[in-house]
Amino acid sequence: MNNKAIFVQAGGGYDKVVIGKSDAAAPKAGEITVRMRANSLNYHDFAVISGLMGPSELRIPMADGAGEVIAVGEGVGEFVVGDAVVSTFFPDWLDGKPGAVGFSRVPGDGLDGYARETVTASATSFTRAPTGWSHAEAATLPTAGLVAWRALVDVGQVKAGDFVLVQGTGGVSIFALQFAKMLGATVIATSSNDAKLEHLRALGADHLINYRQDSNWGETALRLTEGRGVNLVIEVGGPSTLQQSMAAACVGGHIAIIGILSGVSVELPVLDALVKQLHLQAVLVGSRRQQMDMVRAIEANSMRPVIDKHFPLEKMVEAFRYQESNQHFGKIVLDI
Ligand SMILES: NC(=O)c1ccc[n+]([C@@H]2O[C@H](COP(=O)([O-])OP(=O)(O)OC[C@H]3O[C@@H](n4cnc5c(N)ncnc54)[C@H](OP(=O)(O)O)[C@@H]3O)[C@@H](O)[C@H]2O)c1
Repeated sequence: MNNKAIFVQAGGGYDKVVIGKSDAAAPKAGEITVRMRANSLNYHDFAVISGLMGPSELRIPMADGAGEVIAVGEGVGEFVVGDAVVSTFFPDWLDGKPGAVGFSRVPGDGLDGYARETVTASATSFTRAPTGWSHAEAATLPTAGLVAWRALVDVGQVKAGDFVLVQGTGGVSIFALQFAKMLGATVIATSSNDAKLEHLRALGADHLINYRQDSNWGETALRLTEGRGVNLVIEVGGPSTLQQSMAAACVGGHIAIIGILSGVSVELPVLDALVKQLHLQAVLVGSRRQQMDMVRAIEANSMRPVIDKHFPLEKMVEAFRYQESNQHFGKIVLDI
């Protein structure tokens, strides 16, 4: 098979994105071949494509891919031809605690990713997609969906009645809002945009704060909990948000360190962390097992993801420029 694929040349940069062809070999033992139908965009893919974290060699980008199985290798019992599947961010992290450091085995970064029509890979590089979801919907899950799921269920161990704070209206935070409501939590959501705050309300957010208008939003969140503090903060802002996140947290609260939207280093107010005995836990996506658990929870709760906009695969650069503009609410997808 010789099918369409997008490549990023070494070093990255929008002018280094080219359309080409890629082979998908017949599946060997333990492998499947998938007709990819959709990708979703993440900041990590942006870093690879834009050249912020460009690849060292010619690379097929995009970590998140969904499609249908078109061939199955010997010994694969989990999938049959026609199954709808979705990729995993760490194809080697199947279960248990995280092992590998960094992105050397992550599709779309250290390995070729899913911006292509067909791919042959180990069956364990995929899980089944939620029943009834489109391929575009399924493609939203592997990075943004899974890190939100893991932050809530594994790191925060959120239970009904807890307070969860989510920041902004990107893919991770909207999934976190949806999962937090699924678990019975009260959600405080922030955005820089009042129209987006209204969309958050429609999705079930209980309290809304415009973080542009209220620079002390951490204190505001604390007041909204009647001084108790939030049990979990989905921390995606980084340097510009961490201090407010700590102000919002309850004693013994969890801050899931997920994003770097405002930069990569920050001075940590150690005394504030000590006084509240906070758990600051960095969370990098999750394991295949956690993805399978998430898919089951989604099905049990009839949840659907929030997709802002679709672009055709060939318009990848346009899609990333749109993501950079921060106009979106939820996920942006590429249809293949
Ligand atoms: N650790 C992991 O495993 C993992 C996985 C996925 C993503 N991430 C990281 O998490 C972050 C969010 O990812 P995403 O995919 O959700 O991004 P995204 O979809 O691009 O989200 C961007 C949104 O975040 C809000 N935002 C931007 N700057 C902000 C700031 N300084 N403070 C608060 N909110 C801000 C804005 O929302 P409003 O317009 O509503 O203000 C913006 O629209 C990124 O840094 C990404 O690299 C980490």
